Amino acid sequence: MPMWEGRFSKKLDERTNDFNSSIKFDHRMYKQDIKGSIAHSKMLAKQGIIKEEESKSIIDGLNGILEDLESGKLEFDPNAEDIHMFVEAELTKRIGDNGKKLHTARSRNDQVALDIRMYLKDEVTTLIENLKKLAGTFIKKAEENTHTIMPGYTHMQRAQPVTFAHHLMAYVEMFLRDLERLSETYKRIDVSPIGSCALAGTTYPLDREFEAKELGFSKVTNNSLDGVSDRDFIIELLSDISIIMMHLSRISEEIILWASWEFKFIELDDSFSTGSSIMPQKKNPDITELIRGKTGRVYGDLYTMLTVMKGTPLAYNKDMQEDKEAIFDALDTVNLCITTLDPLVETMTVIKENMKKAAAEGFINATDCADYLTVKGIPFRDAYKIVGNLVKYCIENKTTLEKLDISVYKKFSNVFDEDIYDAIDLINCVNKRNVLGGPAAEQVMKQIEIAKKKLNV
Ligand code: ARG
Repeated sequence: MPMWEGRFSKKLDERTNDFNSSIKFDHRMYKQDIKGSIAHSKMLAKQGIIKEEESKSIIDGLNGILEDLESGKLEFDPNAEDIHMFVEAELTKRIGDNGKKLHTARSRNDQVALDIRMYLKDEVTTLIENLKKLAGTFIKKAEENTHTIMPGYTHMQRAQPVTFAHHLMAYVEMFLRDLERLSETYKRIDVSPIGSCALAGTTYPLDREFEAKELGFSKVTNNSLDGVSDRDFIIELLSDISIIMMHLSRISEEIILWASWEFKFIELDDSFSTGSSIMPQKKNPDITELIRGKTGRVYGDLYTMLTVMKGTPLAYNKDMQEDKEAIFDALDTVNLCITTLDPLVETMTVIKENMKKAAAEGFINATDCADYLTVKGIPFRDAYKIVGNLVKYCIENKTTLEKLDISVYKKFSNVFDEDIYDAIDLINCVNKRNVLGGPAAEQVMKQIEIAKKKLNV
């Protein structure tokens, strides 16, 4: 029988119970629910709302439930309405009437808001650790490749030379911003709503600050209606996670391309690739394809919550129960993707000669050739045209700028001299891009040091 049976004369239809119940997913918050109740009971006793011995018996009972759940001695009742009802019912079963005093000056509305905030604080901390570790792996790979020339692309066309380290460090910058966003969101999660009660606070003389402090919160919410009906922090976290997934999806897409026969810039380790059931030659990048696919699923979780919340009047509405499956799914997914991508990147082989070969074939030093003329006094627009003609000549004659004889160069402009070969040498082209944020090894190494400091690795 549900706890709210008093007002009802008919038994709950089984279908209503199943439909309404959230225990199959909110049981995840059992630890937070029990810790929250322990703090609540302490506060009630401190304020003289319940007796010291009543509080003690409640706390002992709750600790026993926690122990038995952890050891597997106690199982969640699938018929319970939610984790809050389950714990309270179990407590009363164990300690009798004292258990019924726990829910004084509290509602499930502020209780669930408290539990989810506590749960998410732990989850954000874990996500930050995982993402830091992934960034560390990218940095390690970057350190090994500060001189690995590869083509940089725009519009998927070979554009200018960069290094593999420079490319990887672009992702590290993204991850650093992701980490900043998570820390910001953490601050807004770290606010205790307990004491808002159902919606309008309570007549009991609560010490909300004490209870918040007991539970490790930095602040308390300022408005009881907001305290029970705010789910912004979940939407904000879902947005952060969606952006992380977008980043993971972009690198996944690149890994898929790089692992293809057409590129062959990298080879995935056998332990992180899969085969085909019919084509014996296949080595598939399933893992990165799944990360790309799961990004869609996480965006779905974000849209779920944006849509759930858009039409709910103040204060609590049962719609909000939908928040948990969405945020749990997004967190599980992003953590799974990060912790699988990490060893995949760590173990992949970088095929430096193929990157270099691709960089040498696409006239990606044409800008440098034009810059060479500009330095010698030719206006950039004229230089651009001369090099355009040179490239056209090379394509027609199936050759490259590096292979052209100086006599040919001179036909296009008499400013060209033997030093042109140095000017268009790919390694020189990269290392001359020694501008802050540029691909020159010196710059990238500086950025690596800065990132390592920020990440404490
Ligand atoms: N299971 C509910 C949820 O997750 C807990 C709050 C229920 N509150 C209520 N007034 N029915 O949202």
